[in-house]
Amino acid sequence: MKYYGLNELRKMFLDYFESKGHLVMNSFSLVPHNDNSLLLINSGMAPLKPYFTGQEVPPRTRVTTCQKCIRTGDLENVGKTARHGTFFEMLGNFSFGDYFKKESIPWAWEFLTEVIGLDPDRLYPSVYVDDDEAYAIWRDVMHIPEDRIFKFGKEDNFWEHGSGPCGPCTEIYYDRGEKYAKGDPADNVVGGDGDRYMEVWNVVFSQFDNDGHGHYSDLAQKNIDTGMGLERLAVAVQDVDSIFDVDTLQALRNKVCEIAGVEYHSSEKADVAIRVITDHARSATFMISDGIMPSNEGRGYVLRRLIRRAVRRRDAQRGTVSPAQS
Ligand code: GLY
Repeated sequence: MKYYGLNELRKMFLDYFESKGHLVMNSFSLVPHNDNSLLLINSGMAPLKPYFTGQEVPPRTRVTTCQKCIRTGDLENVGKTARHGTFFEMLGNFSFGDYFKKESIPWAWEFLTEVIGLDPDRLYPSVYVDDDEAYAIWRDVMHIPEDRIFKFGKEDNFWEHGSGPCGPCTEIYYDRGEKYAKGDPADNVVGGDGDRYMEVWNVVFSQFDNDGHGHYSDLAQKNIDTGMGLERLAVAVQDVDSIFDVDTLQALRNKVCEIAGVEYHSSEKADVAIRVITDHARSATFMISDGIMPSNEGRGYVLRRLIRRAVRRRDAQRGTVSPAQS
């Protein structure tokens, strides 16, 4: 497979969807606008919610973005797995009542296999257990053998974050190969927690509105909301161990090592600390550049917590505090 840098991959994605009639929009701020349900923008679709619900008219019914995001739900996994980070760039193509399943699935496949050149035999789609339509597209249109298409329940294949637009989704997993199957073999399966099979793309068939209390109603229009973590895509394309080995993040990681006077791969404990500091410094920088300041509440508290966690990892590394205290 050809090597692409992270910045090249971002451009390839936006160019591809521009060629499919999408308007390329800049990333929105990390600070949500008119949305009390979120402290921080956590997905490509979050700043676009009014276009999904029909509350506002989008500049075009097809839009593509690379959105800066913060997610802290998996904070404890950061630095320990190959794929978790609190800051990431989310590539997305969106349809506001325009195209739906039969266009979005082939485009996702074409981008991964023909534009990027990922080996199709290493890709495994999953669908929501009741979504016969998406299953049939993978089987009959994309000609993926049935034993390579996985059916999962709501926990894996129904996308929602807080209130607002949501729906069943189809995900695409990439098999990174046996060499990345660390830990429990039971985790290194499609949909498992291990690092061998990595979810790279999530195509959400956004057709419901969640009122925030678990009540769902039909949206006025059927939409497409996709999310592909740029760093994860780069992990697959660059065939590297983790997001911290991707070309751009590696430069930050090396700077952290240089400042700390610690070699990467000198010990697993030091490596976790270096990855945590790299990730949290990145998140803090983007949050501060979007006007967030450390404080005792709300998004300011998220920032303060990340800075404190990074500082504690530094102190743990120096032996002045136990990492357990962080
Ligand atoms: N909105 C789809 C995703 O973030 O995965």
